[in-house]
Amino acid sequence: MDIPVNGDTKVYGIIGYPVRHSKSPQFQTAAFFYSGLNCIYLPFEVKPENLSKAVDGIRALSIKGVNITVPHKEEIVKHLDEISEEVRYIGASNTVKNLDGYLIGYNTDSYGFIEGLKEILPVIRDKRFLVIGAGGASRAVIYGLIKEGVQKIIVANRTVNRIYRIMEDFKTLSRFIENIIEPVPLERIEEKLKNADVIVNTTSVGLRDDDPPLFDYSKIEKKHIVVDIIYKNTRLLETAEKKGCIYQNGLPMLLYQGAKAFEIWTGKKAPVEIMRRVLEENKNPP
Ligand code: ATR
Repeated sequence: MDIPVNGDTKVYGIIGYPVRHSKSPQFQTAAFFYSGLNCIYLPFEVKPENLSKAVDGIRALSIKGVNITVPHKEEIVKHLDEISEEVRYIGASNTVKNLDGYLIGYNTDSYGFIEGLKEILPVIRDKRFLVIGAGGASRAVIYGLIKEGVQKIIVANRTVNRIYRIMEDFKTLSRFIENIIEPVPLERIEEKLKNADVIVNTTSVGLRDDDPPLFDYSKIEKKHIVVDIIYKNTRLLETAEKKGCIYQNGLPMLLYQGAKAFEIWTGKKAPVEIMRRVLEENKNPP
């Protein structure tokens, strides 16, 4: 039998709670095997109260790298020895590299979002964006858009104060243009639809099929490009499809954030098409 692990195998993984639904163990392990690397990627379910011990475990067990997912992405930052610029702005890390016990945090969600978006929108810079949500995922999306050179981002959120916090935190970001972010309370979002080319949902609304819509989706027009970072086709995307819009779910973002993490860990180019195939073949894991 050809068993693809041995005493030299390097261990990577994902830390989250829950983590059973994660697609990363499959597509990252596929990427390692395909690239001929003696590495494996495992799920680690860690309760919030155990995060600190889990970080000690990364060091003690020489786990070479981890992805971090809900609910630890923000909390992990205080346990790291060094953080990248994206982590500093976004305030959350989804990728950690372990260099002999020295932990460096990155955020590849923002890269993942932009690379995914480029599949349906090759030139991003000249579009007007309407981003719904002002949590960690929204910050990663907005960071990516500002870095891409986008000039206008309307941000709609239920809690408007969180948008003001983003505006304050992103003030020093290079390319920052005065008034680049326009804050809008969620209940006034419909007035802003006509000023937007691309609508991006970064909230968790739509994850459950019976979630009430964020706004009246019938107001979406064919000219809109609609992106939902949830991994499946939500009601928002179903409406976009019916209207004839170009649309995208969160799988491309997931793919490219994973590809970037692979590259950070291994220094090799990620086999993106292999990873994509594994993701698409396993759309509905148990
Ligand atoms: P994440 O890191 O995934 O972005 P988060 O930081 O908890 O998670 O942010 C969740 C986002 O979804 C927020 O924008 C939140 O709105 P509030 O800031 O007003 O809480 C939004 N959200 C979650 N449930 C929502 C709902 N039922 N209606 C509208 N927005 C919702």
